[in-house]
Amino acid sequence: MDFQFDIVKEYLPFFLKGTLLTIGLSLAGTILGLILGLFIGMGKMSKKLIRFPFIWYINIFRGTPLFVQILIIHFGVMPMFMKPVNPILSAIVALSLNSAAYIAEIFRAGIQSIDKGQMEAARSLGMSHAQAMKKVILPQAFKRMIPPLGNEFIVLLKESSLAAIIAAPELLYWGRAAQGAYMRVWEPYITIAIIYLILTLSLTYLIQYLERRFAKE
Ligand code: ARG
Repeated sequence: MDFQFDIVKEYLPFFLKGTLLTIGLSLAGTILGLILGLFIGMGKMSKKLIRFPFIWYINIFRGTPLFVQILIIHFGVMPMFMKPVNPILSAIVALSLNSAAYIAEIFRAGIQSIDKGQMEAARSLGMSHAQAMKKVILPQAFKRMIPPLGNEFIVLLKESSLAAIIAAPELLYWGRAAQGAYMRVWEPYITIAIIYLILTLSLTYLIQYLERRFAKE
């Protein structure tokens, strides 16, 4: 196997540009997913009938492939609001909506993992339910949510590669462009695989650092 470094060199600026969009897509997806996910997680924890739409949101977004969701959103939903549709926007919408379903469950699991006695103790000290949530439950739950939230970010970073199919010029998009131009497989795909690995490893260390920092408090 001859590995032609010239191809890598020629496409490196494009790969780097793609990397920036990959980071942007996953960052936007995680942040918006976090906001929406907290809301959906709280909705699902309600004891009333209102919890059902939230349960079904999670069922649908977790139960169908993200790939299909991206296609439906880009070619079906977004054209109802804008023309032409910006693929980057479609990708952000799809990634956020999908991630929100997973984050809702991370949030719920974090809160429900805190022993019931904590809430009872806080209430017996005279705190309201909301106060007990804010001062006692959430700070403890948050620490437990860091590892799965970090995991979600890593997953989303890799899943953002699906946006290549709707021509959002992220990392995989440029890998495919290089393959098309030179009919070469190893050079572009090994290169972008290494870039993805560098990104996910950096995130892994960042998560470890955060975990250690919050564990001390
Ligand atoms: N590839 C899987 C799918 O298509 C993963 C979805 C994204 N997962 C996530 N944790 N946000 O359904």
